[in-house]
Amino acid sequence: MIEIINLCKSFNGKVVLDNLNLTINTGETMVIIGRSGCGKSVLLKHIIGIMKPDSGQVIINGTDITKLTERELNKFRMKFGMLFQGAALFDSLTVEENVGFNLIEHSDWQRDKIRGRVTECLGLVGLKGIEDSKPAELSHSYKVSA
Ligand SMILES: Nc1ncnc2c1ncn2[C@@H]1O[C@H](COP(=O)(O)OP(=O)(O)O)[C@@H](O)[C@H]1O
Ligand SMILES: [Mg+2]
Repeated sequence: MIEIINLCKSFNGKVVLDNLNLTINTGETMVIIGRSGCGKSVLLKHIIGIMKPDSGQVIINGTDITKLTERELNKFRMKFGMLFQGAALFDSLTVEENVGFNLIEHSDWQRDKIRGRVTECLGLVGLKGIEDSKPAELSHSYKVSA
């Protein structure tokens, strides 16, 4: 499903990804670990196409996404979620609008269908009932798991 071939990326002469090769099969869960600054986030940014490599390929379901235009990439990004380590919520939006953001912006789903899906997802992680709260109204432990 995800195949990375000979991926290289340097910043100002500092090599971060040095001919990286990696295959992740459908249904497989892969964990990338390493000390701070070793290039985990840089790798993830190449997989979702927000960074371009110096050389190498990132093949997602048979397509080399390093060759796609920004417009084509946007369609591809619908398949991905990337959760940042901290402060990644829109403070002025409700939990429902935060969790359903991608569907609100990029799908043709009606609002009540989106709300249903958001409630379902919140239920999966034990957070049902906070749909209408704003991030600031939640306790820290809520925000970490949201
Ligand atoms: N946009 C950038 N410009 C310059 N250097 C960068 C950039 N992004 C990441 N780096 C450098 O690449 C290295 C790996 O960073 P990163 O992937 O964020 O590490 P981590 O493994 O902690 O996620 C670090 O030395 C970082 O300073
Ligand atoms: Mg990181």
